[in-house]
Amino acid sequence: MTRIIGLTGGIASGKSTVSNLLRQAGLPIVDADQITRQVQRPGSTALNKLAAAFGNQIIQPDGNLNRVQLGKRVFADTAARQELNQIMQPLIRDAIWQAVDTLKKQNVPNVILDVPLLYEQHYDEDCDLVVVVTVSPETELRRLMARNHYSAAEARARIAAQMPLSEKVARADVVIDNDASLEQTRRQVAQLVEHLQNKR
Ligand SMILES: Nc1ncnc2c1ncn2[C@@H]1O[C@H](COP(=O)(O)OP(=O)(O)O)[C@@H](O)[C@H]1O
Ligand SMILES: [Mg+2]
Repeated sequence: MTRIIGLTGGIASGKSTVSNLLRQAGLPIVDADQITRQVQRPGSTALNKLAAAFGNQIIQPDGNLNRVQLGKRVFADTAARQELNQIMQPLIRDAIWQAVDTLKKQNVPNVILDVPLLYEQHYDEDCDLVVVVTVSPETELRRLMARNHYSAAEARARIAAQMPLSEKVARADVVIDNDASLEQTRRQVAQLVEHLQNKR
């Protein structure tokens, strides 16, 4: 039996940081962001559908998706964001479960499902355990602005587009507090890994 461990949090709360620590501990990760980029590779069904919906300017001359252009287009426009989700979510979902199935066939005891919109897209319903990485609102805003070079307004708009982090924390089975140093986060991840290994 393979257990599915959902890993989620807010935007810039530290999901990738925690997911990298779990990978270093030897746990297999299915990374939704990475899968999304794979699904949106040049010439893909996804890109053709996106170009039809949002115009050819969202494709770069080299055939890759212009993420900045697409991001600007949808974050100002709820209907456009819904259309983007309607196109992408089924394709991403299929690719994610395909990746999970491949790992299940290898009989690994645990698979980490690193999905930013885990609750919003209801992946939690298929998880045996959900881990939420949390930070304070101030830290989230500061780290998002620094990482993505967003203004405070741009960062706030992206945070507001997701389910409140406090709600994710309330629904979590395990919470990792990433507000302090990386060392403190590393200690919490080590505890989680031990917990997962003891349960196998
Ligand atoms: N404990 C921490 N201390 C300082 N910076 C951190 C810490 N955790 C993450 N970061 C930084 O904050 C940003 C967001 O972290 P990341 O793991 O990319 O978040 P997510 O994957 O949730 O969007 C990154 O630039 C990362 O290097
Ligand atoms: Mg990330």
